[in-house]
Formats: sequence, C-alpha cells, structure tokens
Amino acid sequence: MGRVTPAQIAAAARALRAGELVAFPTETVYGLGADARNPAAVRRIFAVKGRPARHPLIVHLADIGQLPAWAREVPEAARRLAERFWPGPLTLVLPRAAGVEDSVTGGQDTVALRVPANPVAQQLLAAFGGGIAAPSANRYGRVSPTCAEHVREEFGETVPIVLDGGECAIGLESTIVAFQDGVARLLRPGRITAGEITALIGPLAIGADAGSPRVPGSTPAHYAPSTPLSIVPSEQIEARSAALAHGGRPVAVLAWRPSAAPHPGVLWIDAGARAPQYAHDLYAHLRTLDKSGAERILVQDVPDGEAWAAIRDRLRRAAAGAKQETP
Ligand code: TXA
Ligand code: MG
Repeated sequence: MGRVTPAQIAAAARALRAGELVAFPTETVYGLGADARNPAAVRRIFAVKGRPARHPLIVHLADIGQLPAWAREVPEAARRLAERFWPGPLTLVLPRAAGVEDSVTGGQDTVALRVPANPVAQQLLAAFGGGIAAPSANRYGRVSPTCAEHVREEFGETVPIVLDGGECAIGLESTIVAFQDGVARLLRPGRITAGEITALIGPLAIGADAGSPRVPGSTPAHYAPSTPLSIVPSEQIEARSAALAHGGRPVAVLAWRPSAAPHPGVLWIDAGARAPQYAHDLYAHLRTLDKSGAERILVQDVPDGEAWAAIRDRLRRAAAGAKQETP
C-alpha cells in the first residue's frame, strides 16, 4: 500500500479513542468507523450518514480471538466459517454478548461481526485494540465508496480523517450470514458465495425471513446513483440504448462486452465478462456514469451463475433506488 504511514495509523487510533470518526479501507468497500463501545461516537455515524438510527452496524475486529467479547454464543458452523474465511469478506450475525451497545445493534439481540483482511484495516484495528463499528462510508442509500476519493466526495470536511489504502480489492460489500435458532441464513450475497458456505456447513436459508432482523442493504432501494438506471435484457442493449440516443437524450450504458453496434450518442462502458473485475469496478463505474451528463443509465443484464450473484443483487437494488422512467 505505502500510502498510510504508521504515524497516520496511530493518529487515527487516537481519534477513535477520542470518540471521533475515521474512514478506512477494507477489502470490500471503505468503512466509516467509530469506537463500538462509545455510544456517542456510534450515534455520530448515523448523523453523518443520514442513516435511520435503528439500522444495525457491523463491528470490525482484529482477529477471531476477540469473538467472545462480542458474541455470547458461537455455533459450531459459525466458528467453522470464521476459521475458514477470516480475515476476509464475511460478516457473521451472532447472539450479542452482554455490554454490546444498543446503538450498534439497533436494540436487537444479535450483533454483526467481521475480521477484515485489508492491511490498513488490520493495522488500524491492531493499534486501536477494540471493535470498530463501521457501515460503508457513503450517505444513506447511495453507492458505496471503493477508494478514498469517493469517501471525500460523500462527506468532504465532515469526515477529515480518511486513511487512503487505494482501491478496494473486491469492491462489493461482505457476504452476511446470520445464525438464529440453529438456522444459517444468507442475508446479503458477496464474494464468498452461497455454494462455498454450503460446502462447509451444509444447508443455508436464503434471504431475510419475516421475523429476521433489519438489513437496510436488503431494502430494495439502495446502492443507487441519482441518474435513472434500468436493467435491460442482454440482447436488447444495443437497440434500446440507440433508440434513446436517437431521441436526442444522452444515454450511458454499463455492459460486460463491447457494443455490437456502436452509436455516437451512447457512452458505452465495457466492464468485462469476468465477475471479479466487474465487481471491483462496479461502484466506480456507477459514479462515473452518474457524472457523465447522461439522462439515463442502462445496464446490460449480467450472466447467470453464482459468480455474478452479488453483482446481480446490487444492480437490482441500484435500479430500485434510482428514479425510474420507462425506457
Ligand atoms: O463489507 C462490508 O460489510 C462493509 C465494510 C465496511 O465492512 N460494511 C457494510 O456495512 O457494508 P453496512 O452498514 O453498509 O451494511 C451492513 C449490513 C446492513 O445491511 C445491516 O443491516 C446488517 O449488516 N446488519 C448489521 N447488524 C445486523 C444484525 N444484528 N442483524 C442483521 N443484519 C445486521
Ligand atoms: Mg452500506
């Protein structure tokens, strides 16, 4: 990395101890962190993001050894996932230990925990020593940041401390698995797939059930640019974008292959047909398209298959969250 000095890490850890916010890189997206044991600091996260107060946050830990301080009970299957995938892009929702703040859990009896792999996040957690509560470092409902510049775009001087760890390696938020009443449940798809989890622990329920906790990332409107965005069936993408451009409206396309019929009025971004690279670039592309002056963003529907599941999920939410117009 090289961009973050030991002095910056030490200063950021001091700021956390003083109840201030610190934005920091993880391998998924940038987080907006606060001391998870300091309710006033945690409340500041909600204020700065504009996030509804009872939406729970993920607590980031330095290593698996800190688990007992936060979870009062760790099912065998959860332990196996933690041992296999931590540090890494996996969040476990577990019964909370005594003393875990209501401001972090939204008053629920569970807490979301994750050990991130990004070296800057690791250094910050080691220097701080405690849990860091951190949602993605974006205003509520908007596109998550995957580089330090995006965080500054979101918050400017409101969040003066942004540790710049470069681009996030993965680019999509962590996979979330909840353990309740003996059932493992996938609450949010991510780089670690349902198949990988099932291979390790057996059956996995998919999606939030009626009685399950609130997951704001799972409300339909999320991860949204401000330009209207719609998903177009793959084989119609050239014709639909050209038709809009003919009508004189600037249109931008996010595709996974080059255009078969390039049109001068269409800004065409080819994000490639490899899911990991597509995911890595997705939020940066959405920001670019949002700023391109296009009146409409059309997204070519992505291929089927598990490697694309998290991407498909975020695109659906971006479409639900953006202002809709029929193409
Ligand atoms: O990759 C990530 O997970 C990033 C980085 C910064 O670690 N963080 C992130 O945080 O995406 P956020 O707040 O944007 O999304 C966290 C998700 C939310 O959908 C939240 O509702 C869910 O985790 N969550 C947190 N605590 C929960 C709980 N006790 N039960 C169910 N869901 C919970
Ligand atoms: Mg978020």
